[in-house]
Amino acid sequence: MDKFVIQGGHRLCGRLVVKGSKNAALPILAATLLTDQPVHLHDVPALADISSMFGLLRELGCSVDVRNPVPTSDPARMSIAGDTVHIRAEDETRSHARYDIVRTMRASICVLGPLLARRGYAKVSMPGGCAIGDRPVDLHIRGLRALGAEINLDQGDIVAHVPKRGGKPGRLVGARIFLGGPFGSTVLGTANVMSAATLAQGVTTIECAACEPEVVDLANLLNAMGAKVHGAGSPRITIEGVESLGGADHRVIPDRIEAGTYMCAAAITNGDITLENCPMDALMAVVDRLEAIGVVVTPSETGRDAPALESDPMRTTVRVTCSRNLRPVELTTQPHPGFPTDVQAQMMALLTIADGISVITERIYPERFLHVAELSRMGARIQRQGATAVVSGTRRLIGAPVMASDLRASACLILAGMAAEGTTTINRVYHLDRGYEQMETRLRSLGAKIERVSEKAGVGAEAV
Ligand code: EPU
Repeated sequence: MDKFVIQGGHRLCGRLVVKGSKNAALPILAATLLTDQPVHLHDVPALADISSMFGLLRELGCSVDVRNPVPTSDPARMSIAGDTVHIRAEDETRSHARYDIVRTMRASICVLGPLLARRGYAKVSMPGGCAIGDRPVDLHIRGLRALGAEINLDQGDIVAHVPKRGGKPGRLVGARIFLGGPFGSTVLGTANVMSAATLAQGVTTIECAACEPEVVDLANLLNAMGAKVHGAGSPRITIEGVESLGGADHRVIPDRIEAGTYMCAAAITNGDITLENCPMDALMAVVDRLEAIGVVVTPSETGRDAPALESDPMRTTVRVTCSRNLRPVELTTQPHPGFPTDVQAQMMALLTIADGISVITERIYPERFLHVAELSRMGARIQRQGATAVVSGTRRLIGAPVMASDLRASACLILAGMAAEGTTTINRVYHLDRGYEQMETRLRSLGAKIERVSEKAGVGAEAV
């Protein structure tokens, strides 16, 4: 198992290109199961979760051809937003997503809707909970049942089929569906039901749909494949079912969580970085809190990306600087366009060194606070009360050995390590490789002192 060793106290300066979005790419990859025609995807990030999804698609009968697979240490890769992937469902008889894949990647649940809609049958292992809390899939199942699917649980598998009609293969049927739960809408639940409804008979309306930009990106791909999806990005999505979908060519949106993480990294090191391909339109809540803290986020000159794209608010160039004491803030995570839960941990790292008391409330995953104990090992003063953490800013963090518990907690601890005095060792960084492409290489290019240590090989060894 790899770990990171960080020498704190170095300012980050320089430029980075934001990579393609993991959370947009995963349901988009699953949606390629909706057609037997080729789908070409650009800016797919090279991440462990994405490789797991490729493995799953291959098991489900798809050919997956990844272009531009540059070795991990190649610096040229730094300016590329992701790989191009060509996918085609060639054998449509296989419909089982096994537990050994689903347990490594919960987003495997995204294949349920597409398999049902296109193949009439799906068996997907039930995902368990994870470090950030219970993560039920009841809303996915409720939505697909409303479309006419029969769904049972059998030995840990969700077994779903579309009933036959008059002895012939059946089709899902459009319906009006409410997808709100105790914590608001569901992102992957919306993706699953929206994807399935594209091939249903008649019109489907999803109420309390997730408004996340990743849902919009999926809808754009589906429409490019010939679907009729309207209203994605709003709480009401309408889908007019079509008989079949075709191939498409699609560029995945940049990763707003990666961008938000690097913004926090610039701020915590009093740095000055420029982010290209930055989805500012999806980052308003994060930028609002960063500005309240005292971070300066300004549009910058044209990036290396095609100049024509600069007018796209999802692909801008911004400069992030911070050269002053940080002010404390209150923040509450919410569904989009509220503050994203996936940047909560990174923001907490930043607020541990603010000049006063901050209050962070987690409204999506009330248990997503495993990083609190690890930050405390570094001298942070944080008191947790249920779904709220009260962070009393301290002048300095002190390096320590800490343990990463999940993807975003890993990023949080890296940020804290870069701001701390002395050496921080972060164990279990495999979580990080699930969602951040070459983070240590990218941070080093900005001036951070961070090394990946393989348990066997010693300091400096890169994971492959
Ligand atoms: N929920 C239910 N029932 C369901 C589904 C969800 O009660 O059937 C609850 C969840 O327990 C949670 C809330 O609804 O309290 C929102 O969960 P959601 O379904 O929106 O989460 P998700 O779709 O499984 C995606 C991202 C997460 C991100 C959340 C929230 C992907 C692959 N994952 O998960 O990303 O935190 O939306 O924005 O898109 C990450 O990247 O680190 C990550 C965890």
